Amino acid sequence: MAILVADLVTRGTSLVPSHFVRPLSDRPNLKEAAAVDSTFPLIDLQGLHGPNRAQVLNDVHQASVNDGFFLVKNHGIADSVMNDMMEISRRFFRLPESERLKSYSEDPTKTVRLSTSFNVKKEKVSNWRDYLRLHCYPLEDYAQHWPAQPSNFRKITSEYCTKVRELALALLEALSESLGLEPDYMNKALGKQGQHMAINYYPPCPEPELTYGLPGHTDPNALTVLLQDDVPGLQVLRDGKWVQVNPIPKALVINIGDQIQVLSNGVYKSVLHRAVVNTDKERISIPTFYCPSPDAIIRPAAQLVDDQHPPLYRSYTYSEFYEKFWDHGLQSQSCVDNFLI
Ligand code: OGA
Ligand code: NI
Repeated sequence: MAILVADLVTRGTSLVPSHFVRPLSDRPNLKEAAAVDSTFPLIDLQGLHGPNRAQVLNDVHQASVNDGFFLVKNHGIADSVMNDMMEISRRFFRLPESERLKSYSEDPTKTVRLSTSFNVKKEKVSNWRDYLRLHCYPLEDYAQHWPAQPSNFRKITSEYCTKVRELALALLEALSESLGLEPDYMNKALGKQGQHMAINYYPPCPEPELTYGLPGHTDPNALTVLLQDDVPGLQVLRDGKWVQVNPIPKALVINIGDQIQVLSNGVYKSVLHRAVVNTDKERISIPTFYCPSPDAIIRPAAQLVDDQHPPLYRSYTYSEFYEKFWDHGLQSQSCVDNFLI
């Protein structure tokens, strides 16, 4: 029996094994999502640094209020850095099974681990996904423990992480300002920020209508920056319908996580999203999860709370939240609801 989905597929399977099969009431309905209009705002970040800053902030505000998702271009990460990251990830997942399994672990507290599905120890139904999860900041603490193969994996991934961090910081400033807060508000509120990354590998699936790559969830962190290849698979819940986020070359997908929903007192939305799989093509997506420090106290910003806008969430530490998140698992109700007042 293969541990990873990729190896199950390599050994040949014309049916999805039963532990991947979702109940009838919880299946992706792939045709429906493909049929709806799937335009998400594409925001040109070039404008952040010039006379159009106010317009860009307004676009960021609208997107964060309405969809919780937007795409960005001219984000400061060179094409070569993104392409190298995607290529080295593909090469990692093409390594022989025995080499990949050197990184395998089911312990979510590990700072480097290859795993499969989501939380194999707790979940009832598995997901059609393998993933390599890495802590990335500070790099000098973590990069030396990352996989040694492929040979330049550490170098390429380090470079990508450094650039993503710069982008995340610029976005935190923009998100703060677009809420009428001081530009450094979120940066300060999140404390010493962590940065984690997943490299998601979704193998082709013989029966994609029966299972998920990842079922619907909201991201528990503050902000997510997603690099995806050219195979569609990400879907976002908009007005009660699942909508596909079509890959746009060179663009990155940004989404608001649960912590910014709380900091903004519910003005910015951490929206349910999921990944679906397909019969023909493997898909790789690389989300960077930008996180508060474990001891950061998260609460709605005082400037956004008044008599008409009472605080929606109680204050808590991020470590308290994160523990609940792993316990709670991926389910269609967001973990953040546990912290409502
Ligand atoms: C995630 C996620 C979406 C995708 O890893 O949290 O939502 O497209 N991934 O892989
Ligand atoms: Ni997600």
